[in-house]
Amino acid sequence: MAQQVRGVIARAKGEPVRIETITVPDPGPGEAVVKVQACGVCHTDLHYREGGINDDFPFLLGHEAAGVVEAVGEGVTEVAPGDFVILNWRAVCGQCRACKRGRPQYCFDTHNAKQKMTLADGTELAPALGIGAFAEKTLVAAGQCTKVDPAASPAAAGLLGCGVMAGLGAAINTGGVGRGDSVAVIGCGGVGNAAVVGARLAGAAKIIAVDIDDRKLETARGLGATDTVNSRAADPVEAIRELTGGFGADVVIEAVGRPETYEQAFYARDLAGTVVLVGVPTPEMRIDLPLLDVFGRGGALKSSWYGDCLPSRDFPMLIDLYRQGRLDLDAFVTETIALDEVEKAFERMHHGDVLRSVVVF
Ligand code: APR
Ligand code: ZN
Ligand code: ZN
Repeated sequence: MAQQVRGVIARAKGEPVRIETITVPDPGPGEAVVKVQACGVCHTDLHYREGGINDDFPFLLGHEAAGVVEAVGEGVTEVAPGDFVILNWRAVCGQCRACKRGRPQYCFDTHNAKQKMTLADGTELAPALGIGAFAEKTLVAAGQCTKVDPAASPAAAGLLGCGVMAGLGAAINTGGVGRGDSVAVIGCGGVGNAAVVGARLAGAAKIIAVDIDDRKLETARGLGATDTVNSRAADPVEAIRELTGGFGADVVIEAVGRPETYEQAFYARDLAGTVVLVGVPTPEMRIDLPLLDVFGRGGALKSSWYGDCLPSRDFPMLIDLYRQGRLDLDAFVTETIALDEVEKAFERMHHGDVLRSVVVF
């Protein structure tokens, strides 16, 4: 039987979000209904509300979540009712050319639930990133559920579903940070600070955190940054070069998503180094770089989508590291809030007051 639950809805561009009753259908073939236990507030949710993603209002927001599978539809074998899962927004298809090349983390045909959740009047909802987890229950494709150790705190585990995974993966998967590397991270919000943690996990010897906000730099230091640079006070390119024997860092991770910080990343890396863009730019942004520098400096200019993660490979492994005390996911949970506080959390996020506010149910 379809169920009625409460969810956070963005009705129209720029309008404050509201809690409304939504209808969650029983899972059909290949689908699962998940009882959400925690869901982090991410910039992308705000972008949806601002109409920055598309115009498919009304949106059911929330996509950084963990919970327990309540029911599964026909043919679902990968998860079962009672499993503790992290929701992911890239359920891989197994059939596309990326999957067939053995690179499912780049799957070009990821999927979501086929049925729609609706408002009480039957209006179909567009769930944020195909998840919609600012709701007591949500309907997803079973492949969007990744089973992990149930002993993990849901608030911490859910963060792997988006921003923290993006940062960790930018360092570990995309940047390929290795033992002894020097790494600089420009922009130390939730994503950048996760990149700091990822660089440390991967064995980086020097981790330079760059931000314009001293509070973020303080956090970065606590999470493993060996050096910090306030780029309002000092030229970050110069500072990073100075801290790396005059050369630049082996891997520079841009976690802001702006042309000027991308340019800083480009010039702050050593010759043959790697730039990773994990910050998300807006459509009008452009970069203008001498092509000769692109050629002459060698190395790799990469972008990192969802940290190039493969949820089935990365989530259980990272939760194990968390449980062993080697990955401090709790440090990213600045505050836990109730479902009706999402709008307030957007404000705090906008002012840079939090790494993550997490709704707990
Ligand atoms: N130079 C350095 N740091 C900057 C600059 C700048 N010019 N402008 C902003 N920052 C810092 C902010 O002070 C903040 O600490 O970048 C950080 C951005 O962090 P958040 O706003 O918390 O965003 P976060 O969730 O970390 O996401 C960062 O990655 O996934 C994308 O859409 C996301 O583009 C965003 C980026
Ligand atoms: Zn695929
Ligand atoms: Zn997100």
